[in-house]
Order: sequence, then structure tokens, then C-alpha cells
Amino acid sequence: MTVSFEGRVAIVTGAGGGLGRAYALELARRGARVVVNDLGGARDGTGHSDAALKVVEEIAALGGEAMSDGGSVTDAGQMEAMVAHAREKWGGVHILINNAGILRDKSFAKMELADWKLVIDVHLNGSAIATKAVWELMREQNYGRILMTASSTGLYGNFGQANYGAAKLGLAGLTKTLAIEGAKHNIHVNTIVPVAGTRLTEDLLPPEIFKALAPENVAPAALHLVSEAAPTNMIVGAGAGFYHAAYVTMTEGVLLPPDERTVEGVAAAWDRIIDRTGERVPQNGMEHTMAVMARLQKGS
Ligand code: NAI
Repeated sequence: MTVSFEGRVAIVTGAGGGLGRAYALELARRGARVVVNDLGGARDGTGHSDAALKVVEEIAALGGEAMSDGGSVTDAGQMEAMVAHAREKWGGVHILINNAGILRDKSFAKMELADWKLVIDVHLNGSAIATKAVWELMREQNYGRILMTASSTGLYGNFGQANYGAAKLGLAGLTKTLAIEGAKHNIHVNTIVPVAGTRLTEDLLPPEIFKALAPENVAPAALHLVSEAAPTNMIVGAGAGFYHAAYVTMTEGVLLPPDERTVEGVAAAWDRIIDRTGERVPQNGMEHTMAVMARLQKGS
């Protein structure tokens, strides 16, 4: 069955190029009305351009409907104005894809605190600010689909990206609590972990791999995660046509007897503490606490 976005209004931040542009075009092709947000700066976040406007023109050429927005995700007033504008013009906002991002890569030893703060500000605070701007409206509508953008650096680490990695894992964490808080208002929140050939990765990837990693191969997963049938509270990886899920797990662990609750006791039990046999995926913090309580009751 064809997945349609007819009647839906979607905001895609950072949609003037790369992945955001691919999402915006595919949403529009499938009938959504799209706010193409982009500050239009350089990869490090400096400067401005009319990148968003160009994507709106591409959507219009396909026969779709879109509006451009040049606001910064770091500015709450601009995000509120963008949402108000979309609501006024199209009557609501059903989908938000938090995709805007910049890089300020340096080893942690050489990283200036200003570069730490700016990257956290655009990715983590920016996604929270844009989400806050739609949250009440989505609660009122009893419908919302929100996608955060994490990265392999956030989940697994990468040399030279401490600021970026911290922000990206923060977004996966934000997803988990918003998915819980949004559930009763039919707001589904997920995280995508893309791999794509864009200006962010062009100097990291050999040309043939860059080509295989077209953003258009990430868009199907992103759109599934903001569709009516979207799951919630998932972390989904997508790149080059390969799709997978990532989980935050907990091991079965060990309940040490009182006389072994020492540094030496933990060291002696280490292999059993980290053993992945019987690992589980708690769906919320309470489930984690209950697992601890259950072990206490069991007494071993
Ligand atoms: P890109 O640089 O083409 O897209 C990011 C867009 O965000 C740019 O058009 C930029 O102008 C815009 N932007 C930056 N700061 C903004 C702000 N304050 N307000 C509004 N817009 C702003 O790069 P790409 O690769 O398409 O990245 C999209 C997202 O995917 C980013 O969050 C990135 O961290 C993430 N990502 C990308 C990966 C890849 O392999 N390309 C891997 C993992 C994550």
C-alpha cells in the first residue's frame, strides 16, 4: 500500500541541502505541505543563504506545496514564528523532522569551549527548541510525529567529535522521554541515525562510497518514522539502502552478597557483570528500577 502524507503539514529543519532536502522532496512528492527551514550557513554554522528557497522552488516544480523559513533552530522566537506561520497557512503541524546541524570537529584536547557550546546549541538545544514550538499544538491536535537526528558518533563515538557526539546521544535520550510523555497524545517520537554522502561527509568518504550513500536512501526510513504507522521510541539506522535498529540495553548483572560489595568484589565479578547473556531493553526508567527490585527480591 502506498504511504501517503496527503493532508499533513511537515517541518523539516536544515532542509536547504543534504538529508533534509531529500526528506522535504519525498514528503512533498507524497502529498505533504512542507516548511523548508534552513539558515543556509556553511558547514561550521557561519553565514546565511537562500538554500531553503531553492528547495521550495524544486518542490513547486514537482507540483508540490512548500514554504521556506530562514529561521535558526537556536532561536525560540523564530521557531515559534515558523510554527505560527505554518498553522495560519495550513491549519496545523503534524510532523517535525529535527535535522539541522553543523560540525566543529577537533580532538577534545584542542577543542575550544565555544565550539563545544555552539555544536550542543545547534543540535541538542536547537532540536529541543523546535520541538517545544510544536509540542503544545501536537498535544491539542492529538497527533504528532517527531524525528530526532542522532549519529553513529553519538551512539558509538568518533575521534574529534566530542561535542557532536554528546549532542547526538543527547537527542536519542530526548527521544526516549518525549516518546513516553507524548504517548497519550498520539505523539510518536523516534531517532534516526543516518549515513549519507553530503557536504558534512564529503571529505571523509571516497567518491564511489559517497555516491552509494545518496541521502535518497535514508529518506524511506525517515519518512516511515514520521508516517501515520510510525513506531515510537525507536533508534533506527539508515544508509546506502541498509536499515537497522539500535538499542540501549542492560545486562542481567550480578547481585553481590553484602560482604562482597567492595571494590575487590566488583572486580572479581566483572566478567559476570558485563556478560551479555540474557540482556534486556528497558522501555523506560521505571522498568530499569523494577528489574533491580526484582533481583533484590529474588536474592541472587
Ligand atoms: P548538511 O550540512 O547538508 O545539512 C545540514 C543543514 O542544516 C544545512 O543545510 C545547514 O544550513 C542547516 N543548519 C545548520 N545550522 C542551522 C540552524 N541553526 N538553523 C537552521 N538550519 C541550520 O548535512 P547533512 O549531512 O544533510 O546533515 C543533516 C543531519 O544529519 C545533521 O543533523 C547531521 O548531524 C546528521 N547526520 C548526518 C550524517 C551523514 O552521514 N551525512 C551522519 C550522521 C548524522
